[in-house]
Amino acid sequence: MTTLLINGESHEIEAEDDMPLLWAIRDVIGYTGTKFGCGMGLCGACSIHLDGQVTRSCITPVSAAEGKAITTIEGLGSEQSLHPVQQAWIDQEVSQCGYCQSGQIMAAAALLAENPNPSDEEIRAKMVNYCRCGTYQQIFAAVKRAAQ
Ligand code: FES
Repeated sequence: MTTLLINGESHEIEAEDDMPLLWAIRDVIGYTGTKFGCGMGLCGACSIHLDGQVTRSCITPVSAAEGKAITTIEGLGSEQSLHPVQQAWIDQEVSQCGYCQSGQIMAAAALLAENPNPSDEEIRAKMVNYCRCGTYQQIFAAVKRAAQ
């Protein structure tokens, strides 16, 4: 039995130690906002926060997440309000197909939590998730907007 703390709630699941955290989050627990892209730690679609650090859940085994606080896109804001990054994404109309955007938002939220006023270079260095629609300019603008 593995216990995972996701978005403030404890979940006991049956999982092998090496099960990718992404499978536990999506298929076992049912938070489907976190997406599968490459499965190899390259694209960032599966990004979540592990103790506040942006983490690619497709290459993180569940055993590495036990005892840590996991945040997914569903837990980023609150019942009452969106996270400022989520609001900036809407205001900036970032999404096209939308598939990668939860991972992009999780990366941006972690960046701004660590560095509330990043330089353009720091944004470009940290926002490295892939977007097949090519929304990079809008992503950049939304991060700047959220930082204001
Ligand atoms: Fe995890 Fe691509 S699905 S990095």
